[in-house]
This record gives sequence, structure tokens and C-alpha cells, in this order.
Amino acid sequence: MVKIDALAYVVAESTDVPKWKHFAEQVLGTATAEAPDGGLYLKIDERRFRLAVVKGKEDRYFASGWEVANGDAYAAALAALNKAGVEVRTASDAERAARCVQELAWFKDPSGNRHELSWGHITDFARFTSPVGVEAFITGEQGMGHTVLPAVQFDQTWALFHDVLGFGLSDIFRHKFTPDPNEPVKRIYFTHCGNPRHHSLALFEMPIPSGCVHIMLEVPGMDEVGRAYDRMLKHGAKLMATLGRHVNDRMTSFYMNTPSNFALEYGYGGLTVDWDKHQAFESSAVSLWGHDFSVGFK
Ligand SMILES: [Fe+2]
Repeated sequence: MVKIDALAYVVAESTDVPKWKHFAEQVLGTATAEAPDGGLYLKIDERRFRLAVVKGKEDRYFASGWEVANGDAYAAALAALNKAGVEVRTASDAERAARCVQELAWFKDPSGNRHELSWGHITDFARFTSPVGVEAFITGEQGMGHTVLPAVQFDQTWALFHDVLGFGLSDIFRHKFTPDPNEPVKRIYFTHCGNPRHHSLALFEMPIPSGCVHIMLEVPGMDEVGRAYDRMLKHGAKLMATLGRHVNDRMTSFYMNTPSNFALEYGYGGLTVDWDKHQAFESSAVSLWGHDFSVGFK
């Protein structure tokens, strides 16, 4: 049985790495360090990075990095992917070194999203110190946060994560942008892996040009969220959804755009779940209050 422990990191592609550095330090409040080939590491805990920016031709999401416990778990995951007919590529030494892990492989899901699989992160355990005074980010066993990916081939993509990689369903939402009865309903599955975070991955049944609906970073309290909101306004980052509280993971958050054209949810108070006692459900509302996503289209 394959067990993915957590979302270890995400990778963004950028045509303007200095813009990312400014956004990371001054708006998100992460520390930064130079990465190989002109890239950038965003440090939010004792690891080298939880978000990497690679220099490229486009401003978009590049990859989701999943981690397993050790070399045996890594071999088991690769074997399961191979058995399922997924084409898995071993990363080059340079790619492996850039992600600071022992072994690294990558594959694409049926919707075309790139996923990286690794074990044994390498770090000097240097303390996280925010340039703007953010106290901490919530990571540890819960991983870096969560990512929401486009999944046009919805059933096949979910089958890969559920049947092959062992993800569980946390809950379901069905989205429509208009009241038009002819608009097809788009499913969103919120899913978890081997840790208590309510969801590490959500799959959204629609295409997204930047390759990601949003990623989420979690901080310890409302004041950290409010201060980030102030910094967003001060530095002219674009608000993508107003402050609100989600029904499913109880996260209080707002959304802003990143320099790689996907949104970032900045929140606190996310639910941790005992999966043995969890009952999957479908919610007909995204949020208890707030989270007006229409501001992102203005
Ligand atoms: Fe989210």
C-alpha cells in the first residue's frame, strides 16, 4: 500500500524572479535564498524551501512535490505508478540537487499536472526568520500547505491519486459560475494523504491557464493574516478573494495573486482531522462567510 506523507513543496515558474523575491519577502513574509540556475527558494520553516521558483519562459505553476517516509516507501510508490501504466521519469542529478532530496522522480497526471516524488529532504535546520516579522508558518507533519489543481480528466486523475497513491476523499463541492442551468457542474474533490491536514490536494474539474487554482500557506493566527492583508495592499498585490472562513477546513483566509499567475490563500485555523473518524460529505457552500471570489475577476 502506497503512503504519501505530505505535500513537501511546490514549484513555480517565473519570467521575473526578482518580482517573486519582493513578493515573497515583503508580502508573504518568507525568507528567501538563491537557488540553482537563477531560481529562488522561499523558506518558511527549518527546511531549505517549501516553495521554489525556477526561471523560465512563462509565469505559471510548475510542479507539486510529494514526499514519502524513506527509500522503501519511495520504491513502493514508483512500483505502483509503473504498474498503473504511469510514465515515471527519474530526475537528473541537477534536478534532485535543486530540490534538496535523496531521490527524485516525476510524472504527469492524466490532466497534465506535473508531480514530483521524493524522500529524505536535506536541510541544515536553520531557523526561519521572516524579513517582516511573521512569527511562523504551520508546516511540520502537515506539509507545506495545500494545492488545488485543474483536473479536466477528472475521473482518471482522481483514480490515480486514490487507487494508486492512496489519497482519501475529505469532501466534495460542486461549482457553477452562473445560474445558467446549461452550465456544466464542475466537481471539486478535497483530498488528504498521510497527515492530519484536512486537504493537501484538491482537484477542480476545469482548465486553469496558470496550471494551479491556488496554493495555501497557513500562519498561526488572525493577526498574521491581517498583517499579510495590509502588506498585500501596501505593495499592490491583487486581491483574488475577500476574507472569509471555509466550511470544510474551517480556514480563515484571503486570496491574492502571485507573480506566477496562480492565487495564494493566506490563512489560519485550518482543521486537522482524525481520518479513522472522518465521514466524507458534500458541502453546497464554500464558506461560512466571506470569500467573495468575484473581486478576482475585476
Ligand atoms: Fe484552499
